[in-house]
Amino acid sequence: MKKIKVAFFSIPTKEKNYLNKRFDKNKYELYFFKDNLNSGNSILKEIDVLSVFIYDKVDKEIIDKAKKLKLIATRSTGFNHIDIEYAKKKNISVCNVPYYGENTVAEHTFALILALSRNLHKAYIRSQQSIFTLDGLRGFDLRGKTIGVIGAGSIGVHVMKIAKGFGMKVLAYDIRKNHILEELLDFKYVDLDVLLSSSDIITLHCPYNEQTHHMINMNNIHKVKKGALFINTARSGLIEPAALYYAIDKGIFGGAGLDVFEGEELLKEENQMLTKNVPIQNVEALLKRNLLLRRENVIITPHMAFDSHEAIERILDTTYENITSFFENKNYYKVV
Ligand code: NAI
Repeated sequence: MKKIKVAFFSIPTKEKNYLNKRFDKNKYELYFFKDNLNSGNSILKEIDVLSVFIYDKVDKEIIDKAKKLKLIATRSTGFNHIDIEYAKKKNISVCNVPYYGENTVAEHTFALILALSRNLHKAYIRSQQSIFTLDGLRGFDLRGKTIGVIGAGSIGVHVMKIAKGFGMKVLAYDIRKNHILEELLDFKYVDLDVLLSSSDIITLHCPYNEQTHHMINMNNIHKVKKGALFINTARSGLIEPAALYYAIDKGIFGGAGLDVFEGEELLKEENQMLTKNVPIQNVEALLKRNLLLRRENVIITPHMAFDSHEAIERILDTTYENITSFFENKNYYKVV
């Protein structure tokens, strides 16, 4: 029997070992690459399944090269790094991992909120320098504050539940409303403008697509309640970069916790910037990010909200189930 060829890109050794143990080698031939997906990899023309992560851009060029491709299995919830329409046109299925880490990302969201509300990042640096005064470290309570959750889906709902535990008021903006949930969790759906003007903390949890591109922008940034904390663990394209820098600069945002930001993929390649032919807009993005990094009220984490031991295992298990179910004609998490 001909084996099914599966190539995994951007896969660290630990995860490779885990997957290696799960797949039946009589049926599957596995190829693992630590590096990002690139169109020059000769394995592309042989594989039946391509498994990628968020930094692997699966575009027309890649899809055209992978002539035998039947399935793209992204090891993430978001799939905006894949040209879905083109895959559909070429009769290639795409699957994702929708539920691996709603609690995981929500917990990281609160890690960012609490770090900012209690100045943990500043205190850490100071204590490293043996400075133990309280000057400039006074924080604020979450209890009684209003959190505005944009995108009340799996992650957003977990954020709400945690917020309730802190005694916060919860507002939500979503294009789909679930009024039973609204009553059950005691939050209120409002429109985006009301959320922006009423929330002490604004947190993004909706997908990035044409509709949500720059949903916070230079036109509505003035509606934000002055001094609100801004948290983004979803996707950088949800906020117009100019609006983000402006809001931080003018104190419209009192602080920002960013697990995603424009040009984040360059973080991993920064030491190669001088030798690579990097587009000028990427360099600009990086420079702006460096300016953000130097702000005391901005905490940047390297797109790590998903990265807990438990969540990674769930991702790998679901990816395994997706791939094997696809070939056994069973149900899997199909995007197209
Ligand atoms: P989900 O699909 O369960 O929830 C998304 C919610 O956003 C839904 O309720 C949907 O109705 C709403 N929505 C869609 N379009 C909207 C619009 N135009 N305006 C307002 N709301 C809209 O997705 P989930 O699992 O909660 O994930 C949310 C996002 O978080 C993902 O799309 C992904 O980009 C990001 N994410 C980030 C991770 C990280 O490590 N930083 C890890 C996992 C997900």
